[in-house]
Amino acid sequence: MNAAPKIMRRIEMLAKISDEPGKITRTFASPGMRRANELTAQWMREAGMTTRGDAAGNLIGRLACGKPKAKTLLLGSHLDTVCDAGKFDGTLGVVLAIACLENLQQQNIKLPFAIEVIGFSDEEGVRFQTAFLGSKALAGSFDRRDLKRKDLAGISMADAIKNFGGNPAQLKSARLDPGKLLGYVEAHIEQGPVLERENSAVGIVTGIAGQTRARLGFSGRAGHAGTVPMSLRRDALCAAAEFVLAVENLARRTDGLVATVGQVSVQPGASNVIPGEADLTLDLRHPSDSVRQRAQGQLERTAVRIAARRGLKLNPETLSETAAVACSKELSAQLALSVGRFQKKIPQLPSGAGHDAAILAGITPVAMLFVRCKGGISHHPDESVKTEDVQVAFHVLNDFILRLAQAHEHI
Ligand code: HGY
Ligand code: MN
Ligand code: MN
Repeated sequence: MNAAPKIMRRIEMLAKISDEPGKITRTFASPGMRRANELTAQWMREAGMTTRGDAAGNLIGRLACGKPKAKTLLLGSHLDTVCDAGKFDGTLGVVLAIACLENLQQQNIKLPFAIEVIGFSDEEGVRFQTAFLGSKALAGSFDRRDLKRKDLAGISMADAIKNFGGNPAQLKSARLDPGKLLGYVEAHIEQGPVLERENSAVGIVTGIAGQTRARLGFSGRAGHAGTVPMSLRRDALCAAAEFVLAVENLARRTDGLVATVGQVSVQPGASNVIPGEADLTLDLRHPSDSVRQRAQGQLERTAVRIAARRGLKLNPETLSETAAVACSKELSAQLALSVGRFQKKIPQLPSGAGHDAAILAGITPVAMLFVRCKGGISHHPDESVKTEDVQVAFHVLNDFILRLAQAHEHI
């Protein structure tokens, strides 16, 4: 089946659904997410699935197999995006999985297990800074304290979930039963340069780096830009700027560590007023949790020193922490056999990016298939993937499902 052109068309259709005109931005429980879920649910039903939205706003399509005791294979990825995103981050994994089920339906192939395709509701964590809300609900690791977090408009996460049609009171019951799962397999763009260098369309993910997301607030004293002498200032933005360079410095000299300050907000934010408040986000990633946690400690001590020297107050807060995970060797070996049928090399590579698979690894074996993307560009409108690489990924995922079915027929 030449599935890739239709997959690309559907990804283009999802790219037109956004909360920001002229850009691709779909954040947790937003109107754009609702429309994206509705369109994707329609495709799921056309592929023979039943669909439901769960308490956390995830979209779940289910292809039953008629055997009540049969286990379920989970596929999918996330439908939310960063701000001004690319078209393929997340959507590729969902649309590709639906295409595979469409193909099974057209070939009238019955599986000995059920399949659920999940469109996760919040992998990026843009709206509330706490990533993986959807997958955490399914894995039973959702932290209810996060329900009180407010977005920039002052709307609480609990209200956002309710307004979206979810139910904060039922988040606990959204958890999947690990005993009923075969595993979770996610196809996703690589968001890095390795597959291009390997001249390969797809590759197998060995593991997913752990990540810390934190917020630091520097509080000084606002004042008149024209009359307060430099020696008397408590300039919060200068303190934050010193900290940002310290973050970059530590990451540059720590092998394998990547650290990013992606957001800075300044109050009162007028050109002739000395900034009294500066709030910034900190994103730390490393394959080793101990290295990442050590770096976080070092940076917090640096921030305390900067604030003390400048006579400012500091308010650090860890927003979320996700441990590094290794993908399942068994599931990845099966996926690798399928890759080997469609391309010469079988690249194996770690993921610096976070994925819902890292959360689902808490309840079931996970494997990931990376798809080459141009220049490794992602979280950017220039994100792009070749149609022929999507076709390879389709063949691999399809072959993997049939391979798993065959293995199950003999159980
Ligand atoms: O930030 C990440 O690593 C992922 O794209 N959510
Ligand atoms: Mn992303
Ligand atoms: Mn992603």
